Amino acid sequence: MKLGGSLLTDKNKPFSIREEVVKSAVDQIIEANEKLIIIHGGGSFGHPLAKEYSVSKGLDKSIPNQIYGVAETHQSMNKFNTYLINQFLEKKYPVLSIQTSSVFIKDSDTISTKSLDVIETALDLGIMPILYGDIILDKQGSFSIISGDQIILELCQNLTKYYVSKVVFAMESDGLYIVDEDNKAKCNLVTECYSNELDNLNLADLGQKIDVTGGIKGKLSFIRTICKSRIPVQLINGLIEGYIHKSLTNQNLNCTNILINA
Ligand code: IPE
Repeated sequence: MKLGGSLLTDKNKPFSIREEVVKSAVDQIIEANEKLIIIHGGGSFGHPLAKEYSVSKGLDKSIPNQIYGVAETHQSMNKFNTYLINQFLEKKYPVLSIQTSSVFIKDSDTISTKSLDVIETALDLGIMPILYGDIILDKQGSFSIISGDQIILELCQNLTKYYVSKVVFAMESDGLYIVDEDNKAKCNLVTECYSNELDNLNLADLGQKIDVTGGIKGKLSFIRTICKSRIPVQLINGLIEGYIHKSLTNQNLNCTNILINA
């Protein structure tokens, strides 16, 4: 499950946590008690710093203190992650922080996974791994940002011991919206859609309302690739009370379900 950064933080205010939203998400995850990997986004802990130092554009010697900015961006995410980890531990729920930038490394355009054994072994032990959008180092002498969505894709493709039964994106909206055929000013929630239909959706542009890194189009391209591994995807509104729990326990809810073709 990816907990979007704009769900957990106020993206417009640096280093601000939406404490009530986090508390509720944590309670619901504990109550569901499923074998689960959590990935959280950067929100106001990641994006402002990453932007200030142009981390996602890679090494640029003309940017003052850029390398320091890489380290600071990571540490800011680490702090946010620690906050979340503590929320679970205070409730005596076993979680393990997995430092994304120590697990993944880039070599130009390819991301290589050192080893996901630690994640699988934690799952074996009944410890819930928590990863987060982070900086990623590049063997070619550079760096960039790895988003939570990218991490999910890497896990779906590279976990060997566990099969991912579903991917859930908990966001700030109900899911994907398409423009109404008869009234172009109106948009409707896509409640069910097969993965091979994703390309044909006339998506409504809801701007800020949808959790983004690279816009909803960027998210969709990850979703398409996740579906190629035959894993269904659910987009849910993490602000609606009980939805995270319902999703984790496979109950019906008003959201977008992306199904796999037979
Ligand atoms: C971004 O992660 C991480 C950093 C900017 C360091 P995500 O792209 O997954 O974060 P959100 O969900 O959009 O906030």
